[in-house]
Amino acid sequence: MSVNNLNPNHVAIIMDGNGRWATEKGLDRSEGHIKGYENIKPIVIAAKKLGIKYLTIYAFSTENWNRSKNEIEFILNLAASVIDQESEELNDNKVNITHLGSKENLPKEILSKIQRSEELTKQNTDFFLSVAFNYGSRNQIVKSINKIIQSEDEKINEKKLSDYLSSNKFPDPDLIIRTGGQKRLSNFLLWESAYSELFFLDVFWPDFSEKDLERVVIDFSKRKRNFGS
Ligand code: FPP
Repeated sequence: MSVNNLNPNHVAIIMDGNGRWATEKGLDRSEGHIKGYENIKPIVIAAKKLGIKYLTIYAFSTENWNRSKNEIEFILNLAASVIDQESEELNDNKVNITHLGSKENLPKEILSKIQRSEELTKQNTDFFLSVAFNYGSRNQIVKSINKIIQSEDEKINEKKLSDYLSSNKFPDPDLIIRTGGQKRLSNFLLWESAYSELFFLDVFWPDFSEKDLERVVIDFSKRKRNFGS
């Protein structure tokens, strides 16, 4: 199979570079996270305008727990303080929100806000936003395998493993973007990215713009996807 795609259906973004964006400006890393957070909505709106149907954003990885206590607390507090209002606004824009990742170790307050957000937006079908928060791909794959074993299904195969992943509501990402200059996946969608097109940009996440997204989508449309054949 060889496909020339006009538009990606599912885009996933590793939003990297908040800390360096701030440090370069002589600011505290937390300022970078605020700017990074503020950049999410414009990119969601831009993605929707570009005809993308599914967007997954990597907001907090299971490895991010190794950061300083202050930084972790800052990110968790930021998330807790914005979920309600953002969910209302995204709901007005007919966006369906889901949490991707583990519930373990997340404060109760955040978990109940996530639950409310998913409940509020579950009827929306215009656009699907998945927020990977406390997410680690290996952790998700192991969980999926354990669920299959517990279900006493006779055999593990690719479809079953996919079906038991919490990303199962989304198709596999057509394209994964990483901002911030590093060229790696960092435990993000390892199973789902088997045939994703990868784009690595030097721009730090707070500076990633609608134009950047548009350029990547145009580049993507020129790539020929062979899916191994
Ligand atoms: C990567 O930049 C970013 C993160 C680890 C956190 C991402 C958080 C946000 C975009 C804001 C909070 C999100 C929500 C949903 C409230 P980095 O800190 O790794 O940057 P660096 O590589 O330059 O250090």
